Parts: sequence; C-alpha cells; structure tokens
Amino acid sequence: MTHPTITIATHGPDHMHKIAATLVGQMGAGAVLALVGPLGAGKTTFVQGAVTALKTTQSFRVKSPTYALWAPYPTEPVLHHMDFYRLGGEDEAFAMGLHEALTDGTAIACVEWADRCPGLFPTSSLWLQFAENPENERLLIIKLPSDTPSETVKSLENALSSVE
Ligand SMILES: Nc1ncnc2c1ncn2[C@@H]1O[C@H](COP(=O)(O)OP(=O)(O)O)[C@@H](O)[C@H]1O
Ligand SMILES: [Mg+2]
Repeated sequence: MTHPTITIATHGPDHMHKIAATLVGQMGAGAVLALVGPLGAGKTTFVQGAVTALKTTQSFRVKSPTYALWAPYPTEPVLHHMDFYRLGGEDEAFAMGLHEALTDGTAIACVEWADRCPGLFPTSSLWLQFAENPENERLLIIKLPSDTPSETVKSLENALSSVE
C-alpha cells in the first residue's frame, strides 16, 4: 500500500505555525501526528502552531516535554504533546498510559521523536518528517494513511499550499 505524501517547504517559524494550525484544523479530534526529525528541525515549533488552532480559556506554554514525556494541554479538544526522546521503550509507554492517549478519539496527539517507538501508533496516524534546509527553511513531508481518500489528499494539499 502506498501512502500519499504532501511536501511543504516552510520559510520560517510563523509559516510553520500556520501550516500546523491548518493541518490540525482540517484533521480535527482524533488526529495522531507522529513527528520525526533531528533536533532543531521544527517539531516543537509545529506543536506551538497546532495549539493556536484550538480553543482554550487558559494560558500555558508549549515547550519540549522531553523530561516529562507527556504534557496534556487544556485545549478543546485536548492536545497531548509528547516527546519520546527519552522513552525507554514500549513497556514504559504502556505503563504510563501513553497508548491510551494515542488512541483517544476525542483528543489530538502530537508526538516528537515518534520513531523511537513506532509500534505505539495507530495506522490512522499521520507521519511528519521534518528536515532542516539552509537559512530558515524547513522541509515538511506529511505521510498520510494509505487509505486516505484522494479528495481528502487534494483538499489538504490545497489548504496547505495556500498558507503563506
Ligand atoms: N521554517 C521553520 N520552521 C520551524 N522552525 C524554524 C523555521 N525556521 C527557523 N526555525 C527555528 O528553528 C528552531 C526549531 O526548533 P524546535 O521547533 O524546538 O525544533 P525541534 O523540536 O525539532 O528540536 C526554532 O528556533 C525556530 O524558531
Ligand atoms: Mg522539540
């Protein structure tokens, strides 16, 4: 099965924020976004933008939850921000209940360093590969689930390519 992909060259942190907000706005509750890429590639910046697409009545800071592994944000829907950089393995993930947060259809999950524990992710997850280009450009390759209808791919592509 092939996975449809959408590639976007973001030209700065603000552009990345808007791309993230648009993607999360289109996907809605239940979306699981697996973020992969080296340090400084823009994963946390993406999550900051994703949060701005959601309603919230409280103010909070989006930072790398590397030490906590998991920070749920008080948004509507709830956004689970995770960072698997220091995750010991699947056993630790299950012990912490991370798999439940990843299959909670009423929330959104954004997981940095998702490739450290790929077995935890449902097949409906989106895999986002971040790469650092020269200057402020960051390449973002979005791999959609193999059963994504082509109309959905097209409308996502249209929405994302019109973001400036
Ligand atoms: N196009 C871009 N997209 C995202 N971040 C960018 C971009 N251009 C420059 N940056 C900067 O690169 C850094 C990315 O850091 P961060 O999002 O914490 O990466 P990661 O979480 O992948 O380690 C930030 O300092 C951000 O301001
Ligand atoms: Mg980070």
